[in-house]
Amino acid sequence: MSMSKEPRPAVVVVGASRGIGRAIARVVARERRVVVLVARSAEELAAAAAEVREAGGEPFTLALDLVAHDAAARLEAFLTAQGLTCDVLVNSAAYGLRGAATALPADDQLGIIDLNIRALCDLTLRFLPGMVTRRRGGILNIGSVAAFTPGPYMAFYYSSKAFVRSFSEALHQETRRSGVTVTCVAPGPVETAFLQSSGADLTVLFKVLPRLTSDEVAKRAWQGFKSRRRLVIPGTSAKLAALFAALVPSALLSPLIGRLQRNGNDPCPCGSGKKYKKCCSSRAHQRRRDESRLVT
Ligand SMILES: NC(=O)c1ccc[n+]([C@@H]2O[C@H](COP(=O)([O-])OP(=O)(O)OC[C@H]3O[C@@H](n4cnc5c(N)ncnc54)[C@H](OP(=O)(O)O)[C@@H]3O)[C@@H](O)[C@H]2O)c1
Repeated sequence: MSMSKEPRPAVVVVGASRGIGRAIARVVARERRVVVLVARSAEELAAAAAEVREAGGEPFTLALDLVAHDAAARLEAFLTAQGLTCDVLVNSAAYGLRGAATALPADDQLGIIDLNIRALCDLTLRFLPGMVTRRRGGILNIGSVAAFTPGPYMAFYYSSKAFVRSFSEALHQETRRSGVTVTCVAPGPVETAFLQSSGADLTVLFKVLPRLTSDEVAKRAWQGFKSRRRLVIPGTSAKLAALFAALVPSALLSPLIGRLQRNGNDPCPCGSGKKYKKCCSSRAHQRRRDESRLVT
């Protein structure tokens, strides 16, 4: 008589090859759980898997580009083939770009929507129904404190994180009586490769805000998820930033963030076509600014 084996519950971390995702994988591994590590770079995934094993977990790796439209289906097929089920999904894969929306390549900016929003939703729709049926597990979405304000000169990234926060909080409410948890984590700057790859480290804003380590964020994120929290904002400065954004009207907040994130090499918003640092003190810039209240 053949006995069909129950699939084993796994924590699936997407964006696990480095940064916050890799740190969360290490934290989860200490609980001796099965951890599935997903990202594009096979080499980095192998290194992350070694850390998971070292910490006491059982790692599986899958090199996958989450922007591919069949990515969620391929992840599910992988889990099935390994005799696993997605008990907890950690969405940590994302990218951002600093610069004026009109100056950055359109495809690169639309890619932010494909990864930070579309892929996250696709994975959610694929795995959340099973969690609700089993009445256990949940989703841990890594958002950002950027979710609380418009982000001039990082417009796509900030608005993608606003989506992640709103979507996560809505699903938290929908699933809270089903035994499932959906938690959004909203960190301020974290010392990872993201700060360089996005160009955020060139801005005054990211220079003045204190940075947490990915280990600190991972610990608080996982703790918050296990405590069934709706929203986790790790660190005092990120909490203050979120409070400030909630209290200050957008008409004041948006120009302030714009000033703090503008870089002198950006094209000047007055439309001169010159670099901001070359243009902003010129008479022609002052005249255009006086003519239009929109130019700062
Ligand atoms: N660092 C910060 O200051 C900060 C602050 C607030 C929130 N966050 C958020 O925290 C999360 C993690 O960021 P991080 O700082 O850890 O960034 P990171 O070090 O750049 O890590 C990003 C992860 O996403 C993966 N990834 C990127 N594109 C992918 C794709 N197309 N398919 C599959 N995987 C992909 C990367 O792996 P591969 O390149 O190998 O694919 C990597 O594992 C993000 O949601 C970010 O928005 C970061």
